[in-house]
Amino acid sequence: MTRPDLLARLHASRLARDQAGLLRRLRTVDERTGAIRRVDGRQLIDFCSNDYLGLASHPDLIDALGTAAARDGVGSGAAHLVSGHHREHAALEEELADWTGRERALLFSTGIMANLGVMQALFNAGTPPGRNTALCVQDRLNHASLIDGAQLSGSRLLRYAHADADAARQALRANEGQAALLATDGVFSMDGDVAPLTALARVCKDEGALLYVDDAHGLGVLGVAGAGSLTEAGVSPADAPLMMGTLGKALGCAGAFVAGPADVIDGILQFARTYVYTTALPPALAAATRAAVRLARLDPEGRRERLCAHVARFRQGAKAIGLPLMPSRTAIQPLMLGDADRAMAVAAALDAQGYLVTAIRAPTVPPGSARLRITLSAAHTNVQIDGLLGALAAACPASPGGA
Ligand SMILES: Cc1ncc(COP(=O)(O)O)c(C=O)c1O
Repeated sequence: MTRPDLLARLHASRLARDQAGLLRRLRTVDERTGAIRRVDGRQLIDFCSNDYLGLASHPDLIDALGTAAARDGVGSGAAHLVSGHHREHAALEEELADWTGRERALLFSTGIMANLGVMQALFNAGTPPGRNTALCVQDRLNHASLIDGAQLSGSRLLRYAHADADAARQALRANEGQAALLATDGVFSMDGDVAPLTALARVCKDEGALLYVDDAHGLGVLGVAGAGSLTEAGVSPADAPLMMGTLGKALGCAGAFVAGPADVIDGILQFARTYVYTTALPPALAAATRAAVRLARLDPEGRRERLCAHVARFRQGAKAIGLPLMPSRTAIQPLMLGDADRAMAVAAALDAQGYLVTAIRAPTVPPGSARLRITLSAAHTNVQIDGLLGALAAACPASPGGA
């Protein structure tokens, strides 16, 4: 019997991507300290990481990791529900719940797994396969893991126009009587803008939908004590019962958590397959993350303020040289270039000047909206930011209607 050849199909897709100039390539970092990376024997200043507070190489985290690894070993050895749940995990969960003002938090190994797991639990528990009529209403620009989470859960995915709370309301109104989750990024990962959380919370309240906020890029950066975009918007846990945060971005570690009412979190623990069937994060990493939470929360070194000052300096400098930055007040400051080849060329020119800014192209962003996703970190210095602006001015001559 002949069948279509899966390997040939993959090969053809890869070739098509290559011919469209959209092939993705790995670059290997040999060493990193703060914002500096050594790549291919050259030092580059990284302006595209998510280490917004510069905590990834903080001595407190490194000490906590080493001390805990010396005591508890490296791997957790098992899934949480088997024998992998360590007191460092439990303590971290308590501290994350306290920080975000929720009853309970549950650790996941990655943000993607958290989003897939939450949707599995909410949409699949108690629903016979193929009988799922629940709705998942999402911002068009949500992160891939939210979109995939909805699709894999078998819920009906409806995507509304970006940051348009009225469009979200219409989508819900048109499907009255069906269970619904409204999921949004708190800070949009490729655009850097903040979701209209107050308006979305209102819509959810009026329309009887459950609000779920993925605060991967808000936690540690926005709101009082860095508690995230919901805190900044003044949306209470009663109005946004479930939130997700990642530990590999502003916290400089790895992993993620979901936080909410204790009984809801226990429900997620029961039914999220990406929680149940995977090895727990290393306990030493949980210990390092506890150190990161303390630093992010209390901010004794004024890192959040430094980051804010860097964002203001970069935007002012970009305006002065006419760079068309997108309207963002967060650490994510994308420069829209449109054409993928142009984005690659500008990234290469920056690289030649010692700046690492990876071009973001389709399918990560819609075709024709390739960009440089420039990110700022408290680990940067003013001199480095001014240097990047100088390199951008040379690589990317001013276009009308800039920043
Ligand atoms: C909004 C958003 N959610 C989820 C994730 C996934 O998080 P993780 O890298 O921990 O899998 C990311 C980042 O990559 C993200 O930007």
